[in-house]
Amino acid sequence: MSSNTQKNLGSTTALSDTQWAQLNQLTPSLTPAQLGWLSGYLAGLAQTQSPENLPMVNPSASEAASPEKFITILYGSQTGNAKALAQGYKAKLDAADIPAKLVNMADYKVKQLKNETHIVAIVSTHGEGDAPDDAVELHDFLSSKKAPKLANLSFSVLGLGDSSYEFFCQTAKDFDKKLAELGATRLVDRVDCDVDYDEASDTWAQQVLDKVQDELKAKSHSHVVAMPHVGKPTLSVATTQYSKKNPYTASLLESQKITGRDSVKDIRHVEISLEDSGIQYRPGDALGVWFKNDPNMVDELLTLLAIDATTQVTISGDTLSVRDALIEKRELTQSYPSFATAYGQLANNPELNALIEDKAGLRAFLGERQIIDIVRQYPVKTNAQSLVDMLRGMTPRLYSIASSQDEVEEEVHLTVALVEYDAHGQAHQGGASSYLTKRLEEGGEIQVFVEKNDNFRLPESSDTPVIMVGPGTGIAPFRAFMQQREVQEAAGKNWLFFGNPNFTQDFLYQTEWQRFVKDGVLNKVSLAFSRDQEDKIYVQHRLLEQGAEVFEWLEQGAYFYVCGDANHMAKDVHAALVEIVQKHGAKSAQAAEEYLTALRRAKRYQKDVY
Ligand SMILES: Cc1cc2nc3c(=O)[nH]c(=O)nc-3n(C[C@H](O)[C@H](O)[C@H](O)COP(=O)(O)OP(=O)(O)OC[C@H]3O[C@@H](n4cnc5c(N)ncnc54)[C@H](O)[C@@H]3O)c2cc1C
Ligand SMILES: NC(=O)c1ccc[n+]([C@@H]2O[C@H](COP(=O)([O-])OP(=O)(O)OC[C@H]3O[C@@H](n4cnc5c(N)ncnc54)[C@H](OP(=O)(O)O)[C@@H]3O)[C@@H](O)[C@H]2O)c1
Ligand SMILES: Cc1cc2nc3c(=O)[nH]c(=O)nc-3n(C[C@H](O)[C@H](O)[C@H](O)COP(=O)(O)O)c2cc1C
Repeated sequence: MSSNTQKNLGSTTALSDTQWAQLNQLTPSLTPAQLGWLSGYLAGLAQTQSPENLPMVNPSASEAASPEKFITILYGSQTGNAKALAQGYKAKLDAADIPAKLVNMADYKVKQLKNETHIVAIVSTHGEGDAPDDAVELHDFLSSKKAPKLANLSFSVLGLGDSSYEFFCQTAKDFDKKLAELGATRLVDRVDCDVDYDEASDTWAQQVLDKVQDELKAKSHSHVVAMPHVGKPTLSVATTQYSKKNPYTASLLESQKITGRDSVKDIRHVEISLEDSGIQYRPGDALGVWFKNDPNMVDELLTLLAIDATTQVTISGDTLSVRDALIEKRELTQSYPSFATAYGQLANNPELNALIEDKAGLRAFLGERQIIDIVRQYPVKTNAQSLVDMLRGMTPRLYSIASSQDEVEEEVHLTVALVEYDAHGQAHQGGASSYLTKRLEEGGEIQVFVEKNDNFRLPESSDTPVIMVGPGTGIAPFRAFMQQREVQEAAGKNWLFFGNPNFTQDFLYQTEWQRFVKDGVLNKVSLAFSRDQEDKIYVQHRLLEQGAEVFEWLEQGAYFYVCGDANHMAKDVHAALVEIVQKHGAKSAQAAEEYLTALRRAKRYQKDVY
């Protein structure tokens, strides 16, 4: 650390002489990689503390402006994107000497709302137009009778979403509407970002900054404290410098099919080496995976469009061949409204044009087509650059981590279902799942990052019982949970509900569960093999059958976890839980819902659904 930096650290929020001595004793022995890791770790540590207790990164700014004159950046994020943007925005405001507080919506004290003068809310949408877990309470509060009048508040909302969904950026729309209804004034109009959100969010951020600059900018630079630079904020700052934008190049150790030869599913156990990366994760976290599209599909697409594969194109200032661009940088296995609109103009086909006007019809059309299906159906002539410009950037896929680092150390394990289906007379595969299970060879390189998920965590006390509901690939995080509870020698009871089509073909990790049971780690396993009999049996049927005992566990303080399909399973499991609480807790349907809401608020009912 430079002496200049040390000299600047003379303010009240800087380190004491003793702390300096301790830091100086440690830092000379660290390698550059370790220093990098430590900076991310410390930044992450700071993020995990209550924002109210955190020193401002730039205290001079807060001192110079009057105490109420700061901007509160509220973020509500499920899979890390809004959080990373909010962190980036905080850094931008710090650099501009604009006092700002960064607060996760989950930690926000609603009583504070009436004292705020400036708020920006950066929030994503999940489920079917639902608020991310961390934003639920604030979202509900703003719609409640308790919400105060906010005539003194200026605000702006940035929404993150995906235009393929029916309720695009719904949570941001709700926040924007509610704040305005409560009397607050928009600094800048809400911006709804699609999956390619970098440019739109940057523009919005700059506009808000320009608006608040004069009012909030600190008057004096005299006490600026040069905190150690922690680099660009990352999605997983608590553990590593690697992030979605700066992924780690890992290598595939193993990809083993764990469904039987006659299974209707191809599910793989995937092991990836994180050797020497310093990456750390916790049970409940997900792994983000950047993948490559199938070169055969890309070649076919280029042939259909009569585009020479070697034609050079430019993406964000980089020049590369159109073939490489389509393999590495563009989303081809999903289709989306922005592509349909641009392609429709080119094709000028009445049928396609009519479809583009019909939102629901277009969603259904796109939901069952990949880009190549649309090109086959409506042939056009275009050039390489136009094609690349019509397509949206690739987005990494997330996979719930199926291992505990206390058990597997520098590895990370996943449970990946290959998405494959026939449609429009052709075989189709999902981009990332086919890359992980089919195209990537053992030893091959893959770019990954850890996506922290504090909304899916084992109880703090290892004595607390847990109930885990994870059909299909939903089993993944529970393998991590059980590895962790075993290493911890946790005294708390564990109950697993698992389901899949057939016992003989689809009992994922069967021998591991058997060993956990034998060793007394797993106390109960309830299985629902849906296709082994005429009538479907699902995990919620098993829950209902054992409702009395499930309720007893809940009353004993058990945590309840659900992982896997969001569209059907998680909703049906919730309905079963309501029924159980009603029946065995002698409550009305409304009281049972309130019971579950209280569990959710106490973090005792957690979901990792997709
Ligand atoms: C937090 C989180 C955790 C996750 N954990 C896991 C996990 O542990 N394991 C796991 O396997 N997945 C998991 N997923 C899902 C995973 O991220 C990917 O979405 C999944 O692997 C599919 O990605 P893909 O790139 O292979 O498919 P894509 O290229 O994204 O293609 C999927 C698209 O194919 C289309 N499609 C799929 N089936 C059909 C069909 N039958 N007919 C017509 N169209 C169809 C749909 O439009 C769908 O959107 C998780 C997701 C999230 C958000
Ligand atoms: N976003 C994506 O692109 C994507 C990609 C892959 C997976 N997913 C999601 O991830 C989920 C997990 O996939 P998976 O293949 O591992 O498992 P899955 O499809 O969820 O199937 C697991 C088990 O759950 C059963 N099931 C079906 N409907 C159910 C319901 N309403 N309630 C409870 N159980 C139900 C299935 O039975 P039957 O099959 O016999 O009915 C099967 O026995 C998928 O359902 C899907 O929603 C999403
Ligand atoms: C399971 C799931 C459901 C989603 N539902 C919606 C939705 O209803 N509307 C929408 O606009 N976006 C939806 N999205 C897209 C997310 O909002 C988008 O990926 C966003 O960038 C996530 O930001 P976050 O990481 O901060 O949560 C969904 C994403 C997932 C994984």
